[in-house]
Amino acid sequence: MLEVSRRPPRPREVVIHVRRAGVALGDILRARGHLPGTVYPLTPGYDVAGEVVDTGSRVSGVHRGDRVAAYTLTGGYSQIVTVGEHRVVALPGGAANAEAVALVLNYVTARQMLHRLARVRRGEVALVQGAAGGVGTALLELGRLEGIRIYGTASAAKRSVVESLGAVPLDYRDPGALEAIRRAEPAGLDAVFESVSPTSARATRRLLRQGGTLVYYGFVALARGGAEPPGLMGLGLQVAALRLLSPRVRTRIYAIDVDRHRTWFREDLQWLLGLLHKGSLSPRVHATYPLERAAEAHAALLDGSVSGKIVLDCT
Ligand SMILES: NC(=O)c1ccc[n+]([C@@H]2O[C@H](COP(=O)([O-])OP(=O)(O)OC[C@H]3O[C@@H](n4cnc5c(N)ncnc54)[C@H](OP(=O)(O)O)[C@@H]3O)[C@@H](O)[C@H]2O)c1
Repeated sequence: MLEVSRRPPRPREVVIHVRRAGVALGDILRARGHLPGTVYPLTPGYDVAGEVVDTGSRVSGVHRGDRVAAYTLTGGYSQIVTVGEHRVVALPGGAANAEAVALVLNYVTARQMLHRLARVRRGEVALVQGAAGGVGTALLELGRLEGIRIYGTASAAKRSVVESLGAVPLDYRDPGALEAIRRAEPAGLDAVFESVSPTSARATRRLLRQGGTLVYYGFVALARGGAEPPGLMGLGLQVAALRLLSPRVRTRIYAIDVDRHRTWFREDLQWLLGLLHKGSLSPRVHATYPLERAAEAHAALLDGSVSGKIVLDCT
């Protein structure tokens, strides 16, 4: 733990006393230098929930004392964070901090991929890779709400997690898993949500019907130490090449960007918080670790024991 002095907020910034910070596989990829634009020394942490303790002179949407959730990208593993107002959304009364923080990165990512990129409709059928993970469980829960039929890959131990979210579970270590989907869905899938590796995407895209959508968004195999030469740059080129290799399907690459798509982020997070408030969403919070044990939370995320989101208690 490091103590640093805090600068006053700029006109459009909000200072938040963090109660819960989210832990994500992306924190580990970033800490290892796999994600572009990372500045060191690094405090990881994509998302937080807590109370506003100060605001810049031109902030009008939230006030001191308001409970909020925010997308930080980095820096969330802290007791105090300062973040642009456009990245902050007020919490509805009664929302638990841990559940609210689970929505910020994982559910916004899932919502935007389903609704804004793939535009999957009621009755359509999709494959979600890593279905018991943070983003995977979010895709399953939102997909079920929207009447989408989903096949979800997970390790054998997490079969029941996938089933409990209404999807058909498949063991990703079973070499026959994709063939089983092909037999069950001879017309092809409408969408594939791929987060494992470009190699994996080359196999799963073959399950799509003509005009179906592959959404590529992660590097789980890289985080888990899977043999995926030649580094992230090479992986990026392989992902880009998927487009050329598969002209009969649509290939979309997703990277959350709340600064570029400010309206999307606010609309989507507010919509998700509204569902949480109504009791229509139950994000899976797997465990809460004290902030000073963040390294243990990372180890748990890598060893395959987690399903859903881990949060840090920063109080
Ligand atoms: N593009 C974006 O904007 C964006 C946003 C959020 C996250 N991401 C990325 O999305 C990925 C997932 O993040 P997360 O936080 O959801 O991670 P997570 O919670 O660790 O989930 C990853 C899941 O993948 C499963 N898995 C591991 N190897 C697999 C394989 N070979 N085939 C199928 N599934 C496999 C794991 O299952 P077991 O644990 O059972 O082995 C785990 O449940 C990361 O690469 C992250 O950086 C991208």
